[in-house]
Amino acid sequence: MMRLHFNENPYGLSPDIMSAALEEARELDLQFYPDQEAPELRRALAEYAGVSEDQLMISNGSDDMIQLLFLAHMHEVERVVIPVPTFGMYRVLGEIMGLEIVEIPLTEDFELDVAGLSRAIDQAPSVVVICHPNNPTGNYFSAADIDSICATDARLIAVDEAYYEFGGCSMVDATSRDPRVVVIRTLSKAFGVAALRIGYLVGHPDKVAEIDSVRQPFNLSAVSQAMACTVVQNADIQLETVDELLRGREMMRRDLEGIPGLTTLSSEANFFLVRVDQGTFGMDAGRIAAELKERGILIRHFPNLPEFLRVTVGLPEQSAALQDALNDLRRQVD
Ligand SMILES: Cc1ncc(COP(=O)(O)O)c(C=O)c1O
Repeated sequence: MMRLHFNENPYGLSPDIMSAALEEARELDLQFYPDQEAPELRRALAEYAGVSEDQLMISNGSDDMIQLLFLAHMHEVERVVIPVPTFGMYRVLGEIMGLEIVEIPLTEDFELDVAGLSRAIDQAPSVVVICHPNNPTGNYFSAADIDSICATDARLIAVDEAYYEFGGCSMVDATSRDPRVVVIRTLSKAFGVAALRIGYLVGHPDKVAEIDSVRQPFNLSAVSQAMACTVVQNADIQLETVDELLRGREMMRRDLEGIPGLTTLSSEANFFLVRVDQGTFGMDAGRIAAELKERGILIRHFPNLPEFLRVTVGLPEQSAALQDALNDLRRQVD
């Protein structure tokens, strides 16, 4: 199956970094529990993120971090306020915690509805989650709108920067000015190691300590800690694939734009939306996703974005295969 549905980095680890990471893993004494504080990985991530170690904690992927955030605040907040469409796990994890989920639709051009969000935040103690850039729309929200959300009485403003390396904008600086702001990041996307399950949070030291107090002590396997440490220490080399993917994204968009009935949206991440004009293409977006799956190509269709498909930037040969399959589907309906 061709995986253009989970926004992974198709290049994975460079062979040299893979060998070095495996070497580190080989040295481990697996009979012992891992270090609870993951000190080396924390040091490497803090250096990478440009913060001090007490401003950073690590989780078993960023999904886990979102759950820890909600867990740490569930006695003080009643609702999770989210602009939608966005990453689906905010709703899923908030519901599991028994929190009320309030979804405020984005405007037509996928910007924040600041008035709607502020009203929802004012009505009850809230956590707000802002995905930055937003998955699946691919855009950053206006900085002034985010400032307006930070000026509300939200108890916590969690900014999910899973795709930070592709767009380069960050709210990390805001975390030292306002302890209610935390930034969540992951090694699953640009760093290309989704299987290691490493997410991290940057925040004010007091906030980090509060969230860290609900983390399970052995939440990170020793193998993941050791391998991820090597990956982050070699960030300069490993992140060379980001430029490759940014070039690939624009080539892929240009190729898909050449297919009648398809238009693409600009993106600040390693995925982008494709709008399907059913009349011209001859098939709706949901059916296209289903037909592509039959042909071994996985992309995403979301019920709350019925006319769109979300495509992860793949290798050049994957992009060509997707283009061929879409042309083929169109010929079928002609
Ligand atoms: C916005 C966003 N946040 C978090 C995640 C989950 O990342 P992780 O692999 O670190 O759990 C994803 C995965 O697709 C995502 O798109």
